[in-house]
Formats: sequence, structure tokens, C-alpha cells
Amino acid sequence: MEHNAQQAQKEKIMEHNTQSSKASTSRRSFLRKGLAVGGAGAIGAGLLANGLPLPAFAEERKGDRRDDLTRGDVAILRFLAAVEILESDLWQQYNELGGIQDSEVPGGSGSAAYIKALAVLDGDMSQYIHDNTEDEFSHMAFINAYLASQGADPVNLDKFRTLPSSKATGAQHIGRLTNLMQLTVDTSWWTRYRSRTQNPDLGGTFAQAIPGLSAGQFPAIPRNDGDLAPANHIQAIANTAGFHFGYIEQGGSSLYPTLAQGVTNLEVLRILLSIGPTETSHFQTWHDKAGNAPALTDPKNGLVFPDLNASGGEDTQTNLIMPEPTVFLSRKFPVVSIIRPTQIAGSGGAVATIKSFTADGLFIGQSQEFFAVLSELAQQADAARRGF
Ligand SMILES: [Fe+2]
Repeated sequence: MEHNAQQAQKEKIMEHNTQSSKASTSRRSFLRKGLAVGGAGAIGAGLLANGLPLPAFAEERKGDRRDDLTRGDVAILRFLAAVEILESDLWQQYNELGGIQDSEVPGGSGSAAYIKALAVLDGDMSQYIHDNTEDEFSHMAFINAYLASQGADPVNLDKFRTLPSSKATGAQHIGRLTNLMQLTVDTSWWTRYRSRTQNPDLGGTFAQAIPGLSAGQFPAIPRNDGDLAPANHIQAIANTAGFHFGYIEQGGSSLYPTLAQGVTNLEVLRILLSIGPTETSHFQTWHDKAGNAPALTDPKNGLVFPDLNASGGEDTQTNLIMPEPTVFLSRKFPVVSIIRPTQIAGSGGAVATIKSFTADGLFIGQSQEFFAVLSELAQQADAARRGF
């Protein structure tokens, strides 16, 4: 059933691309011929080989750029816009209670006890939360503005902002897209980036760093002021946030390079190659901070954060925050330090990202229509292929 649906989708896309490529082939081949014959020297002289002045060339391209985006390019951008909207929504909730509320990231007034617990992971946690939040808002706004500039539909998920806010002092009381109060955090990214022999793209599987977090439902923000004490309870909430930050941003680190392989238009590729590494920059930061989460047992729910250095092995060692070299493409090659996974439509792809976010508990309480909209966007993005 799923296979048939995907096949039908692919055929739909192929059909559309055949039609749209007919319309733009003549102009493209004209441009390609001009460039091929003229070479770099002619462009350097300010003229193409066929004598067309550069400004006219640039103007034509600018006015006609929509034709240069394939249906796949648009699908990839629209899915990324949706993911950035979701990220903005969850980071906004973290910032209201644990970050810095200012003109760059307005909303909320902070929770002193939560901020204090987060600061155990790093004295600059509030600043980093603020900056990560601002970055996601900028990604969302940019991608949607770019889509609109190309005549494509921007993504708007406002009708799904229906989930409740935290009742803790400091949070805004507005509808949310995501739920940070019943998370089941997958912490296998921790061991995945330390393994020297396994890669998810080559069938590798990875142990949980914090097994308790991946089996149960836990808040990553205080749900109400009753969550602010005792000390080890609010610290467990801050620890959960610390590992959740890493989980979210390692997802973005894989998603962008995975989808980039399906992009056709060079400018769209440039957008993905320019935004993607900022997700990795976030991931690197959070990876480091999560390693500072103190070992403890939450007295309210029994959640255990073990001492990750106790085993003495590299798979959990807290300061191994740079990707350990591992197998890539084939085991015949030497190991290499890389982002993983990145296999197109694989476990770092669009559909897998939504499945993972769903398993994370981020969407608990959302409507069937919400899942249908996200699923459609994800399937279309995963179906994109270079040239289509
Ligand atoms: Fe982002």
C-alpha cells in the first residue's frame, strides 16, 4: 500500500517534470551552449560568447528563476520550511523558560529555577538557547521568503498551533505546535557519533546513552511551578533538555546533507549547504553541554542519568564530542570523520525525521490532519531526485 502510494507520487512528479522541462528546455540549452562555447574568459570580459551582455543575461535569469526550480527543489524547501517552523516552535518554548527573552527572541520571562539547573550544564546555556532559537526563526523566515520569491507556496502551520503551553511561571500562554512535556528522547546519537565501526547507512545500530530517557515520558521544561523542586527533579528536567537539544540538532545535521543530494538548482543547493552546517554547529555545542549533565536519579519519577564516564569506554566518554571516524559508503574505504546518516531517503531523510519526531513525543496531542500534512510534505521531499 505504502509502496504503491510512493510509486504514484513518483510518477506524478516525473509527469510534472516532463511537462515543465519541455517549457524551459530551449532557454536552458541556449544558456548552456552559450556558457560552453564562451568559457570563463568570455564571461570575464563581461560578455557571453554569443554577444549577449551579462546584465541582460542576469536579468533574464532573475526574472525567470522559478522555472529553474524543479518540483523536487520546491518539495525539499517546503519540507525544510515545515521542519524549521517546528524547530522554531519548540525552541521558542525552551527560550521562554530557559533562555534570554529580548527583542531578538521575544516572549516569556524565564524560570529562575530552570535557568539555574540548565546553568549546571554550562554557564552560557541561556545565551545558547536564545541563539539557537533565533537561528531557527531565521531559517524558517528565509526559506519561506525564498519559496515566495520563486512563486512557490510558503508553508504555514498556524492552524495546528493547538497544544497547551507550560503552566510554569515564565511561559507564554499560547497554542503550540510541539509538546516538550512528554518526551521519549532517543539518545543513540551519542554512541552513533562515537562508533568507529558502525554507520546507520551501512546497517549500524547504536546503544542508548541514557536508556531511561528513551523508555518513558519525561518533561524537558517545567510543566508547572510544582516541577521546580526538589533540586534533583528540576535538574533531571534540565538534563533531559540538554540531551533533547543534541537529539534535535543532530537530526538537522543529517537532514540537510541528505536532502541536498536530491536538489537540482544550484541556488537551492547553496541554501541547503549554507543552513545545514549551522544545525551541525548547534549540535556540536549541545553535544558538549549534554556531557556536563550531572549523574542523578529523579526523586519524582526514578529517571536515571548515569555517569557516562564510568564504563571507561569510548562509546560514552563525555569529551569525545567531535565525530569519531567511521565507515562510510563501503567498508573497503578507510574510516572517516563524517555526519551520519546521509543516505538519500534513508534514516536521516524527511519521512524518517517526522517518524523520529513523532516517536520523540513532540507531537503528542496533534491532530490526524497535522500528521497527514507533514507526511505529505516529507514524502514529496524524499521523492526529489537531482534533475527532477
Ligand atoms: Fe534550523
